[in-house]
Amino acid sequence: MKFFVDTADIAEIRDLAATGLLDGVTTNPSLIHKSGRKFLEVIEEICGVVDGPVSAEVVALDHETMMKEAAVLRKIAPNVCIKVPLTIDGLKTCKALTDDGVMVNVTLCFSANQALLAAKAGASFISPFVGRHDDNGFDGMQLIEDIRLIYDNYAFDTEILVASVRHPIHVLDSAKIGADVMTAPPAVIKALFNHVLTDKGIAGFMSDWAKTGQSIL
Ligand code: E4P
Repeated sequence: MKFFVDTADIAEIRDLAATGLLDGVTTNPSLIHKSGRKFLEVIEEICGVVDGPVSAEVVALDHETMMKEAAVLRKIAPNVCIKVPLTIDGLKTCKALTDDGVMVNVTLCFSANQALLAAKAGASFISPFVGRHDDNGFDGMQLIEDIRLIYDNYAFDTEILVASVRHPIHVLDSAKIGADVMTAPPAVIKALFNHVLTDKGIAGFMSDWAKTGQSIL
């Protein structure tokens, strides 16, 4: 499973990229607002740090203006992935861009039928929002299972990008179901490294090593 980080914070992106675990980045208008940075500048900077897909979201709601915005965004770098909402205009834009060889991430997916439409429109990625689904009393991971089944039934190439990931269990379940990608905030990715027994083990080894009175260097 590929790991994308869901942030526009360049320091966090650099830090995670240094682990070698980072396969891509997702952003959205709220994350750009949170960063306090200029949209086009921050996307360009992220593309300079990460070789994989960097999702940059259009903000128009009509197809014609989405295409104009996409034309600006796709010029930034070859690894820019245009993010469009799961609407009729969004999917028209998806079809036009993917036919032209541009990566497209269809976002704000909350049903398996929507995911089916995105795949038929040629989406490179579909982003079902599991956390927001759970928040509203639905089962986010069941949605991922349903999409996996449908995409496998018809051998769609669209990658399932699990989004709105809130905790490590979402990551674990995504991997068990066979999602292609998950995108999570930096804190969730960093939490994956932690285990109380790892910390306890290190403390024990350090204590016994100190008693040997030796050093390696
Ligand atoms: C995905 O691309 C979105 O940016 C993101 O995962 C939304 O997550 P949220 O529900 O935590 O805002």
